[in-house]
Amino acid sequence: MKYLFANWKMYLNFSESMILANQLATMSYDTEKIQLGLFPSTLAFTEVEKLFRGSPVCVGAQNVGWTPKGAYTGAVSAQMFKEAGATYALVGHSERRYIFGETNDDVKKKFDACLDVGIIPILCIGETKEDLEAGKREYRLKKQLMTVLEGVSKDAQFFVAYEPVWAIGTGEACDHLQAAEIHDVIKDELNTYTSQSIPVLYGGSVNDENVVFYLPHQSIDGFLVGSASAERDHVHSLLAAVLAA
Ligand code: PGA
Repeated sequence: MKYLFANWKMYLNFSESMILANQLATMSYDTEKIQLGLFPSTLAFTEVEKLFRGSPVCVGAQNVGWTPKGAYTGAVSAQMFKEAGATYALVGHSERRYIFGETNDDVKKKFDACLDVGIIPILCIGETKEDLEAGKREYRLKKQLMTVLEGVSKDAQFFVAYEPVWAIGTGEACDHLQAAEIHDVIKDELNTYTSQSIPVLYGGSVNDENVVFYLPHQSIDGFLVGSASAERDHVHSLLAAVLAA
């Protein structure tokens, strides 16, 4: 089973989200081989979720607030997303970390809030170009894992998405051999914190042309795709490429 998760970011307005969701709803593919997950904007979330309720397609939140309710202008809590049918939530996406200033501590609170309400968090981690050039890639990834996973129950269900910051939205995807090696490092490190088998996804400029290179690697359980996931034909060819592997 491979996971193909579509992070629509702020690319699609409500009607564009519904057009794409309806197109995807008519697509047939082998659901034993691939799990499709959609991460629409908060505005489109409930309608997209309604469309796929009871189907193998899962819908997730791009971001969550950690407190169930209260005076947090602009926030939507993990609990509210759970009530609205979210299966997954992205936490710690690098755009949240570096544009919106979220710290590892914020990411931990969001991660814990998801587990508390029964949403599967997808913990996004990744090094910056500076980390990479300074030889600090593994240090950064291990730190991001440690600050969130220390103290978490060994039975907790979650995913990790390895998304090098320099590869997101740049067209400069991480070489597949390097990505596979890093996934091994991440999986090794995860053994410290969990007794579960945790899927680790690769994200960062994945498209329907380069996806084939990652597919043969056992340690890469699937993909978190941004820009290439916001358009029907791209999603269609991504699905086809994964299924053909
Ligand atoms: P990208 O984004 O595919 O546009 O690089 C990936 C992500 O941010 O999850």
